[in-house]
Amino acid sequence: MYILAPSLLAADFTRLGEQIKETEKAGAQYLHIDVMDGVFVPSISFGMPLIESIRPISRQFFDVHLMIVHPEKYIEEFVRCGADGITFHLEAAENADALIKKIHDCGARAGISIKPATPLEEVFPYLDQIEMVLLMSVEPGFGGQAFIPESYERIRQMRSYIDSHGLRVKIEVDGGVGKKNIREVINAGADVFVAGSGVFRKNSISDNITRFQEAFREKQNGKDR
Ligand code: DX5
Ligand code: ZN
Repeated sequence: MYILAPSLLAADFTRLGEQIKETEKAGAQYLHIDVMDGVFVPSISFGMPLIESIRPISRQFFDVHLMIVHPEKYIEEFVRCGADGITFHLEAAENADALIKKIHDCGARAGISIKPATPLEEVFPYLDQIEMVLLMSVEPGFGGQAFIPESYERIRQMRSYIDSHGLRVKIEVDGGVGKKNIREVINAGADVFVAGSGVFRKNSISDNITRFQEAFREKQNGKDR
């Protein structure tokens, strides 16, 4: 099953509640929530108060992507505010094993993200302990960037490693995913597709989401390729 995770960063914040409901109604199972601290990445986005205030209006899986240093300090609080899954950056983790344990102890699903230049091998030792591996297909920090083409090969290699080791971890891809390249990203082997601009910009949210779902359905029915 393919999962669409609209990234809130591209939403119209003056109509945030409405837009979230629109994504849920259109069938997006996850909501991708990018937390940036201005240290790990150059920009600052939003944090706990926002997550807490939108939690009651959505039943979607809150997929919190932490682009912050010292993620270990904030796990409990993010889960308390409504995170269902927490993904931290391997580059920011002093002790990834302890972080995974902490996320699980709080009752959330654990994910690890790596930037485009981080070797895939660095995350291999953790794949049997986590629920999701997030491959960044842009440099983290901003929405609306172009998908880095080398990411296809990274997704393929991750897919083949996971399958050949009988692992169940999901592959999430984040950055520059839209209707133009969704089929290639699916074919490379991803399971969860983050899309900010691709969901919230240009056309209506429901039209945009329908385009993603068409691509998922084609692949599931074996029409693609
Ligand atoms: C970038 C964030 C992404 C971003 C994606 O650092 O992690 O989730 O919002 O936005 P688009 O889909 O516009 O590239
Ligand atoms: Zn993200």
